Amino acid sequence: EALELGDHTDHMAKEIEEQPGVVAEILDRIADRAVDGQLWRGLGLAPFERVAVVACGTSLNAGQVIATALRGLGGVPTDTVVASEADQAVLTPGTLVVAISQSGETADVLRALDRFADRHQVLALTNNLHSSLARRADAVLDCHAGPEIGVAATKTFTAQVVVGVSAMISALVASGRIDRSRALALVGDMQRLPGLLAGAAEASLDRIPLLVSSVRDASGFLFLGRGAGLPFAAEGALKLKELSYRWAEAYPAGELKHGPLALVTDGTPVVVVDNGEHKIQANVAEVRARGGFVITIGGAGADVPALGRDAGRLLSCRTDVTDQGMSLWGPLESVVPLQMLARELALQLGCDVDKPRNLAKSVTVE
Ligand code: G6P
Repeated sequence: EALELGDHTDHMAKEIEEQPGVVAEILDRIADRAVDGQLWRGLGLAPFERVAVVACGTSLNAGQVIATALRGLGGVPTDTVVASEADQAVLTPGTLVVAISQSGETADVLRALDRFADRHQVLALTNNLHSSLARRADAVLDCHAGPEIGVAATKTFTAQVVVGVSAMISALVASGRIDRSRALALVGDMQRLPGLLAGAAEASLDRIPLLVSSVRDASGFLFLGRGAGLPFAAEGALKLKELSYRWAEAYPAGELKHGPLALVTDGTPVVVVDNGEHKIQANVAEVRARGGFVITIGGAGADVPALGRDAGRLLSCRTDVTDQGMSLWGPLESVVPLQMLARELALQLGCDVDKPRNLAKSVTVE
């Protein structure tokens, strides 16, 4: 194990650091085939009218990112289904089921397929081509993240997003919903991700221990995001819960005033995923006015200014690319400081970051 870890103190640190390389490798393998539609055609699936993403945990958050991108891209109606609640979902004919599971063995996902697979095509995104999910799906895409040892998923999340968005771009080109030049621009934008992910890690490294020492004793955390930033707020809250055993809740920032603001008092840590939406500033002001300790991830012009007494900003998210001035898949690079924040808090609290209590890497019971 010491050999495997190299210079890293834990698998989670290693796996966080591997993300730029994982994304670069995925893009090397599939970017060209995404642009010309071959990635989708090679799967041998029929055209679809709608998409339902089915997953659990971190994979579900990756599914939310993919769904947001797909809705924005081709206007394809896309639902996300919590796998354990699949009984509640009603899928119309022509719905493609995209089942996401790094292990491919999650019982809730497999049970959901029992319900959907007869009448719907299933595309699996998994890190394990030999898994039950891979065997049962009509088509499979390998997420190519490499082995992930840490129980809390990190690089598999990022890999799922990149593979899933690439597959959807490819499907939209193949069906004529977007043209090749649009696909080329989108994939070109994705090619910036390895640099952005690496930059996010570097910009956050020194600041995170200091920030965490300011919030270490807090009993709970709020995570806020809007639009394409929201799934990242959800993933940040999930990582913090899993690793540090502190309460963390993710909310659409606009919902703050409809309830969670009651939780904010002097020093309450509020992590804001700022993807450049101007309304988020008003939400941040509401938190500040109640004495909340705001930790901002990203935001226009964020160049990691000096750490204030009661606030921190962790990285510069770009806001300069694509259609609406933001990438369709949201601020993917924000996941890196969110993972680092959860890990650092866990370490400062003396928790085992690779093996959180009560959790398993692959949950094969319903
Ligand atoms: C478990 C793990 C989570 C993971 C979820 C889904 O609950 O602790 O970290 O996100 O399963 O796993 P999967 O293998 O389906 O992606």
